[in-house]
Amino acid sequence: MGLRAYRGEFLSLSCDPREAGPDGEGAVRYEEDGLLVVEDGIIVARGHHADLAARFAQVPTERLSGLVVPGFIDAHVHYPQMDSMAAHGEQLLDWLERHIFPAEMAFAERAHADDLAQAFLTELLRNGTTSALVFATVHEHSVDALFEAALARRMRVISGKVLMDEGPEGLRDSVASGRAESEALLRRWRGRGRLGYALTPRFALTSSDAQLADAGAFLADHPEVLLHTHLAENVHECAAVAARFPEVADYLDVYDRFGLVGPRSVFAHGIHLPDRACTRLRDSGAGIAVCPSSNLFLGSGHFDFGQADRYGVKLGLGSDVGAGTSFSLLHTAGLAYQAALAREDRLSPFRALYLATLGSAQLLGIADKVGALEVGQEADFVVLDPAATPLLARRTQVAPLAQRLFALQVLGDDRAVARTYILGECAWERTA
Ligand code: GUN
Ligand code: ZN
Repeated sequence: MGLRAYRGEFLSLSCDPREAGPDGEGAVRYEEDGLLVVEDGIIVARGHHADLAARFAQVPTERLSGLVVPGFIDAHVHYPQMDSMAAHGEQLLDWLERHIFPAEMAFAERAHADDLAQAFLTELLRNGTTSALVFATVHEHSVDALFEAALARRMRVISGKVLMDEGPEGLRDSVASGRAESEALLRRWRGRGRLGYALTPRFALTSSDAQLADAGAFLADHPEVLLHTHLAENVHECAAVAARFPEVADYLDVYDRFGLVGPRSVFAHGIHLPDRACTRLRDSGAGIAVCPSSNLFLGSGHFDFGQADRYGVKLGLGSDVGAGTSFSLLHTAGLAYQAALAREDRLSPFRALYLATLGSAQLLGIADKVGALEVGQEADFVVLDPAATPLLARRTQVAPLAQRLFALQVLGDDRAVARTYILGECAWERTA
């Protein structure tokens, strides 16, 4: 592809705004009229157009009209659940039994998995999401289907076969088959394209002690593999975990006892955590994918940003589709603000954008590759249209940057994504 440049208004976060002074603005990297220069999909220069124009005068330059931000990074999403969104009536455990497990059983058919994988990746791009940590199903080929589709689209996708030897009939593996299939997948896909593997025990309640212990051994053997699971999402789930493991300090301690808590561990939700667990998350380097849309939909509660920040817990943002009601991390960032406010905390629009980009990248261990539009990173970015709807157009007219960004988060969604670029190539363009 050679050298290519993009001229437009660029915004990214270079660190967590929480760590960048009282107003966090030290974390904001912004060029009102900027230039991003890309060679073979990698960013080789970024700065103010006036500073870089002479150096790159010969490079073909594309004008981007809108606010350009890093591609969104969904730190927790289930591809097999996209056709189960908006299932009425239940909190977590009943919702799983009634709606989700039956839907996941259909993945016994490889063709069904292929179909959903394609639809899922298209939906990610439509929403400006260029990287994701994804739950598949218990079926080995559910991961093959997703990885094949993501490889062809050159997307950065991390996934793994779900381990659940104590799941419902028809959706159960065994310690031995779970281990063998995880190893086969890792062997088959290691080092290909932009794919990564995550060992994925569904949650404490669907794996035996033996499977959780085997997962710990697998992780210790494979230092490049992430651990991806659910943690302390729902009060009834927490009560069931406490009843099954009466000897542990708390829910996180269950995973800890099996060697599943470390710097490569990504836990979805973490709504109901004692302070001890926050200390342990921080000390171990593990982190949480915050999923506000899902938490509201399943009546799980509101994530406690104040508590997490007191302990310095690493955070990213997840849609958690199909409990989540939107693929849009822009919209989910707006919901994160509302979840924080429900507990009297404030989330700035810049921090919300950080969570959807660099925060998630750090959580997933891919911040050297994506998340901040820095030199040396892959050129995944989104062009946001601040006038995507009549209401947005009114609200973003002549507004300062923070207000425009906040309006996009609260009032925007996939409609505000004009284009999505993967490795410097346009992979999605809104037609209307
Ligand atoms: N806990 C265990 N499985 C699931 C799931 O599929 N979705 C959510 N939101 N929580 C879970
Ligand atoms: Zn989930």
